[in-house]
Amino acid sequence: MTKISLPKNFLWGGAVAAHQLEGAYNVGGKGLSVADVMTAAGNRDERTITQGVQDGEFYPNHVGIDFYHQYPADVKLFAEMGFKCFRTSIAWSRIFPQGDELEPNEEGLKFYDRLFDECLKYHIEPVVTLSHFEMPYHLVTEYGGFRSRKVVTFFTRFAQAVFERYQDKVKYWLTFNEINNQSNYDRAFTLFTNSGIKIKPGENAEAVMYQAGHYEVVASSLAVQLGHQINPDFQIGAMIAMSPVYPATDKPADILKAQRAMQARFWFSDVQVEGAYPTWLTRYFAAKGYDLDITPADLANLKRGKVDYLGFSYYMSFATAASDHEDPQFSYNESTDLVTNQYVPQSDWGWQVDPEGLRYSLNWLNDRYHLPLFIVENGIGAIDELTPDHQVHDDYRITYLRDHIEQMELAMQEDGVPVMGYTPWSAIDIVSASTGQLSKRYGFIYVDRNDDGSGSLARYKKDSFYWYQHVIATNGADL
Ligand code: BG6
Repeated sequence: MTKISLPKNFLWGGAVAAHQLEGAYNVGGKGLSVADVMTAAGNRDERTITQGVQDGEFYPNHVGIDFYHQYPADVKLFAEMGFKCFRTSIAWSRIFPQGDELEPNEEGLKFYDRLFDECLKYHIEPVVTLSHFEMPYHLVTEYGGFRSRKVVTFFTRFAQAVFERYQDKVKYWLTFNEINNQSNYDRAFTLFTNSGIKIKPGENAEAVMYQAGHYEVVASSLAVQLGHQINPDFQIGAMIAMSPVYPATDKPADILKAQRAMQARFWFSDVQVEGAYPTWLTRYFAAKGYDLDITPADLANLKRGKVDYLGFSYYMSFATAASDHEDPQFSYNESTDLVTNQYVPQSDWGWQVDPEGLRYSLNWLNDRYHLPLFIVENGIGAIDELTPDHQVHDDYRITYLRDHIEQMELAMQEDGVPVMGYTPWSAIDIVSASTGQLSKRYGFIYVDRNDDGSGSLARYKKDSFYWYQHVIATNGADL
């Protein structure tokens, strides 16, 4: 490869989400969110979703890493690494504690004023996700989450409040984090965190997911329209989990299966980018007998509220194979239809590590959407060891990130893919979303907190901190 030269304004940074690090779950008028009723699980177990907060259960997000109180020192460390941007989310239930109030909570708004000001002090551009697995829990119990069209109104009210408030502080926005996780509709975690939905016995989870997904893409399109009215300079993106699905073999049925899997995973961004439903999907609804609430006004809004760029996370690739009894729709069920890819290794949590899949993904998304792309998550969850002299030798993390950045640079340099920035997951150790563990660490900064809630919460720089600092300082030329 010829020597890399990334754009001068390339957005190097790091990413987190409010519920995974802020803690202070009931401070400053904050209401409960869906993240506050999930317990901790072990490696590869699912977190339990409880009915409200139960005595005797442990909820790791309640304390997080106490970023709510410690953010000035943490942002200073981000600045020391050279971050140009910092991706976080606004906890919806800090601003609208129940979700259905008419007026926002001033104390919640003030917290993000302070946080964004702290970032801007160091010329760190905030990149803000509106909804990152943080729906107010009251919207779940009272409205069934995004089963209800009313939640579209509550979401747009929230979006309007924060767009107006932070219009001079935040330029880059993302509407719904990994909106397409719920294409794995059989997994309780994804429907609950994306949409605040619990499936009832006997229900067709796929149909429920498509209805909720529709309301969310409509909510996203309304937010985009509002945001552009409030500040025409806003850049508002969609955000998907980009795990490309490869066919397990060159058998034509496997290829058709993988194609359908990609269609089923990425219809959300198809709609958010194109402003219209893909034809295969409207046929699919008819074939399955799904009679969804999709109005002409919704379709008009989708057209009017197309996103400006596409944000995505990339951790791994998937592979799938057709079964012997494939139906004509090649229906994809992510809980049962994935197979192991023998050509790539796996992380300790079974995630398939595939750096070249990032180059593939960047090309695939560029060919499909023709929009600027922003890698807003990429990283590896691993067990780190803090040495007695407070060091963490995380060469495996450096290897993972270096291999992925290399592929990103190849996609940019060799293939001409427009990438706006790169914010690895995570800026600092935080609570894992899927397991609730602290020991599934992603950060450049070690936080002394353990899975059982013990630890001093002290911060220590890992080897990867210094490595990434150098990557940013050389604008990606020296990995
Ligand atoms: C993404 C989410 O799914 O991956 C993050 O946007 C999450 O919230 C990250 O933390 C890593 O996943 P996990 O489950 O290992 O924390």
